Amino acid sequence: MITLRKIALFSLSILLVACQSAPKHAVVTHQQAVASAHPMATVAGLEILNAGGNAFDAAVAVSATLAVVEPYSSGIGGGGFWLLHRASDNTTVMVDGREVAPLKASRDMYLKKNGEVDPKASIDGPRAAGIPGEPAALDYIARHYGKLSLAASLTPAIRAARAGFRVTPHYRQMATFRRDVLRRSPAAAASFLQDNEVPQLGYTITQPELAATLQAMADKGRDGFYRGEVADKLIQGVQQAGGIWTHKDLHDYQIRLRTPQVIHYRGNTITTAALPSSGGIVMAEMFNMLSQWDWQGMSTLQRRHYEIEVMRRAYRDRALYLGDPDKVNVPVTRLTSMAYAQKLSADIQPDKATPSSELPGISEQPGGNHTTHFSIIDKDGNRVSATLSVNYPFGSCFVPPGTGVLLNDEMDDFSAKPGTPNAYGLVGAEANAIAPGKRMLSSMSPTFVENKDRLAIIGTPGGSRIITMVFEGILAFIDGKNAHAIVAQARFHHQYLPDVVQFEPGAFSAELQEDLQFMGYNLRELDGPYGNMQLVILDKRTQAVTAASDPRVEGAAQVE
Ligand code: DON
Repeated sequence: MITLRKIALFSLSILLVACQSAPKHAVVTHQQAVASAHPMATVAGLEILNAGGNAFDAAVAVSATLAVVEPYSSGIGGGGFWLLHRASDNTTVMVDGREVAPLKASRDMYLKKNGEVDPKASIDGPRAAGIPGEPAALDYIARHYGKLSLAASLTPAIRAARAGFRVTPHYRQMATFRRDVLRRSPAAAASFLQDNEVPQLGYTITQPELAATLQAMADKGRDGFYRGEVADKLIQGVQQAGGIWTHKDLHDYQIRLRTPQVIHYRGNTITTAALPSSGGIVMAEMFNMLSQWDWQGMSTLQRRHYEIEVMRRAYRDRALYLGDPDKVNVPVTRLTSMAYAQKLSADIQPDKATPSSELPGISEQPGGNHTTHFSIIDKDGNRVSATLSVNYPFGSCFVPPGTGVLLNDEMDDFSAKPGTPNAYGLVGAEANAIAPGKRMLSSMSPTFVENKDRLAIIGTPGGSRIITMVFEGILAFIDGKNAHAIVAQARFHHQYLPDVVQFEPGAFSAELQEDLQFMGYNLRELDGPYGNMQLVILDKRTQAVTAASDPRVEGAAQVE
């Protein structure tokens, strides 16, 4: 936690640094911070920072440690997006380590004989798994951005896999949800259950085989995963259990470097995920539409109304137009233009909900707080905002024997059939249909927001609700709220279809609910909270760093 004394000492050190350097190239240092969904991952990030690593080395350490201690959320059998900002040359890039469909995948692979979608087929077992991107992304980040070796940054994760971590209430909740499917894979059950049951609170989960796989990556970089002994075991395990991966899938996997989506909104610059995440385009549409009105000057009722209406319209476009930019033509420039936003919002009425059925065009129940996000700043101003996933809790629940690698079930993020909702109730069309080697559309939206006074590193898991959570978090940041208030604030969501405003208990007062219903909104209060936001804020005026981890789950934010 940051103390006043530290801030004072800190400002003094900044002054000294600034005095020593030529003003044009003044090196400004400040505190460092890591916010992640697990205390061991946060400590791993700080360990690497304190060992001389930069934010990128810390990102490798945090990602790999989360892969060990938060197996229900992300892992080296999964993928993600790492948004990196390098202070020395003021550049920002998105490392796209998203999974791809196996080369033997086909458009209708999850349809039953009667043409209906078999929802389990894209969620449970090895046929649900895309080719993992996280190992390649970590190797790339270490080699091109890090100061330390990949091996050095993997050390805390390997240690955690060997020594183990304790089962928490959240772990138990996730394992209870997926117990029956985990039991079908003996290697998954051996790793993540205790005598085939949900482990007791405090039970230690050790993963010696995962430690060995991480060690192979430490020794050989990406080849330690995509080639050689680990690759052989991955392919053998997948194929023996009815999966379609081949060695060529692993050899061919490549990360992509993407130019982030940049959004300008009333003096704020929002730098966020590009395709194959839908987050950047959906947010650009929402902020562009919103910028036509004085949001900050509105009453709470008006704010909620306009926010919901822009969500509805932007999520419709997600369903209709968005997919892997390497495989389909997405009219990004048009969708993110102000002229388009004006057209799209022309029918928003000041006092009335627009039924989704009145919009030309195609989603149902989304997820909560698996998948993972972390935010890092180092003392030199390098920043990382990363959202990583195996999709459903514990991914596909399948571990190829001898690897310790829990495979994702990200194939469910494709649209298995136009108009049929996936696990998060999202519908899609041609642009997100399954094709060999194609990346499935994502909602993960790691983001930086900056204005003249402050900057934030923000993101969260939450399936289809990720984008609206980040949107609401950015608005609260723009409104001047502090880190704790932003991650704690109650959430609401609309995704075009179903035509329902979902909200966390407490998000809307009784009066606000009445007013919104009067305007024509269908409201659904959720049973519990959702999301797991991790946030770091730098105050550019004082150089003070603050950080916060979502109070809904078990993460930890540390500034030092
Ligand atoms: O990439 C995506 O959009 C999803 N696979 C993310 C899943 C997720 O956030 C689950 N969390 N509740």
